[in-house]
Amino acid sequence: MRELPWPARVYLAAVVATAAFLIARFELPGDAWDILLVLALLFLVCESMPTLLNVEQFAVSVSFSASLAAVVLIGPEGAALVGLIAVVSVRPGLPLVKRLFNGAQFAVCGFAAGWAYESLGGVSGVPQPHQFDELIGPYAVATAVFVPLNIVLILVMVRLATGGAVSFRGMFQFLLSYLGYGTFGLLVAGLWATVQSISAVLVLLPLFVARWAFGQYHAQQRSYDATIAALCQAVETKDYYTRGHCTRVSLASFMIAQEVGMGSERLRAIRYAGMLHDVGKLGVPTKVLQKDGPLTEEEYAAIQLHPMRGLEIVRGIDFLDEAYEGIMHHHERHDGKGYPMGLAGEEIPEFARIIAVADAFDSMTSDRSYRGARPIAVAVDELRKGSGSQFDPELVAAFIRALEKDPWQPPRKVVEVPAEAAETATKDHDDPTMPIEVLSG
Ligand SMILES: [Fe+2]
Repeated sequence: MRELPWPARVYLAAVVATAAFLIARFELPGDAWDILLVLALLFLVCESMPTLLNVEQFAVSVSFSASLAAVVLIGPEGAALVGLIAVVSVRPGLPLVKRLFNGAQFAVCGFAAGWAYESLGGVSGVPQPHQFDELIGPYAVATAVFVPLNIVLILVMVRLATGGAVSFRGMFQFLLSYLGYGTFGLLVAGLWATVQSISAVLVLLPLFVARWAFGQYHAQQRSYDATIAALCQAVETKDYYTRGHCTRVSLASFMIAQEVGMGSERLRAIRYAGMLHDVGKLGVPTKVLQKDGPLTEEEYAAIQLHPMRGLEIVRGIDFLDEAYEGIMHHHERHDGKGYPMGLAGEEIPEFARIIAVADAFDSMTSDRSYRGARPIAVAVDELRKGSGSQFDPELVAAFIRALEKDPWQPPRKVVEVPAEAAETATKDHDDPTMPIEVLSG
């Protein structure tokens, strides 16, 4: 509590006081105790096991379905009481402040949804099968009140407590998921007259199967990410100045791909391709890669082989899909003067054309031992100059548009190279913005 900024503390106190005021005068009808207990238990189980479901940014719990079921079965105050149970959810390590806030905001949302439900003619109590049609409209409105209010209350707290912003796109996905999962509450309420508390089990079961499946999926994604990060790290330990390069190329490639409207599967693949574009450097002797001065023909050939070596290293990783092409051709040029195959224009796979722009941009805007970072505006000008010769003009234009929407954060300046990394490159022959000098003959 002490760590919270004072506006967040005032806000927390206001939400908790509102919840207490709404619940304080409530007298639960004698016959509704069993419903309250079952729904509170349902809420507790769901709230204790949040899962990522289909949203990448947030852990979603479908506990609010129990609150919405309570709106129908017990009314606004009952829904508020069910939400309050979030205070004792089984989530080890969750601070008391968060528990209090969660419980209070769920209580406020439950009450508001119940009020909307009753205002539109919804009748609280166990609905009989023939009454089901009449409760659908008010229930939909109750959900439409609960979900956005829940999101707003949480966002205000996040903003006041951390000053952090949440992306609009992420929030939109969050909202849609919540509205969709709200239908589970309608199922619980609708089935209650027929199977009573078994309705909660009937609804929970598919939810837990879904939770298990999504959990597996996310565990797999995490292990993919860890594999890619380890390979990246291996490449970057070769030169202190290239630290973070893979991650930044990955981000810039993602921005371009997003700007040209790629779907989520390809966006994931381009992120991986950006991370791994230089993995082939592991197969090129460091003394060649960083040789100070012109390269011999053999050394130049070894450099040109690194995209191919990269492909050999990652060929067995089957989730990379299109990323292979990005790795293999990231040094091709639009005018056909690149390597390893001298492809030109549209012959170059789209992933490789994207990575070429991202790679050059990050190389220019980060420090190297042989030159300092260039300002972003200068790097953008250089991309423009190379548009049509080195780079695909459409992708350069897309990157510039993306940068206007989401300004680039350049890496921190290298002020001092740590002693353990003092032996660092005097040259980087992989730098796409530096011409490679080759000894003639
Ligand atoms: Fe490269």
